[in-house]
Amino acid sequence: MRLGVNIDHIATLRNARQINEPDPLFALEILKETQAEQVTIHLREDRRHITDFDAKRIIENSFLPVNIECSINPEIIEIICELKPHRATLVPERREEVTTEGGLDVIKFEDKIKKAIEKLNKNNIEVSLFIDPDFEQIKKSAALKAQMIELHTGKYANLHLALNTNINKTPFKVFENYDKSTLKKMLEDELILIKDGAKLANELNLEVAAGHGLNYQNVKEIASIKEISELNIGHSIIANSIFIGLKEAVERMIRLIN
Ligand code: PXP
Repeated sequence: MRLGVNIDHIATLRNARQINEPDPLFALEILKETQAEQVTIHLREDRRHITDFDAKRIIENSFLPVNIECSINPEIIEIICELKPHRATLVPERREEVTTEGGLDVIKFEDKIKKAIEKLNKNNIEVSLFIDPDFEQIKKSAALKAQMIELHTGKYANLHLALNTNINKTPFKVFENYDKSTLKKMLEDELILIKDGAKLANELNLEVAAGHGLNYQNVKEIASIKEISELNIGHSIIANSIFIGLKEAVERMIRLIN
């Protein structure tokens, strides 16, 4: 299991002060001391965390492959082709969202995605599609000849929070109107969808990653799915690094997923 560490939120913290620290570039030196195998960054259209300048410096200086998450907006695809990361993960983006909510609809946006894949591949950038664990989306991703998919684990993660933490006593409620037994069944069903989706994708020759909302409490069940070969994890690792340091936060996650 490969771990991609998403370092966007180092830039979120920097941008809160609109100065030059903490610099996400410094994370590369620390990741070098760990078994992390990929750096992941999201160049959002509103540039709310990682900027073009960050992306350029990270790609130029990283000893690890860089996976850039980005929208399918042609202007963004153009920028990614110039930046030349090893991979682009195409995600849906809405300006008003707090974080990526739901997977990319590869059926609805088939034509736009096809063009983006062709252009990125022509520039030697492999393409992963961030989709929900939905069979039709997976089949379409294979038909579009993406190299890889990343299964959105956000619903799984939120169900896990609702069931196992006091999140619904905080202002940030998730699945608050469900009783425990319903939540338990929904969590089991979502896990089955992720497992079956990963299996189908492998059968269709797609490599499978997973990510979003994964943390130290919920990661093991996803990491044990043998068809999944990569996890991209950001928020929880960066959040924990405040208390235990980035190196230990990454190493703890690697111990859990292997
Ligand atoms: N994978 C993708 C495609 C994402 O968009 C994100 C969030 O930027 C992540 C993984 C990481 O999610 P989290 O920060 O919740 O670990």
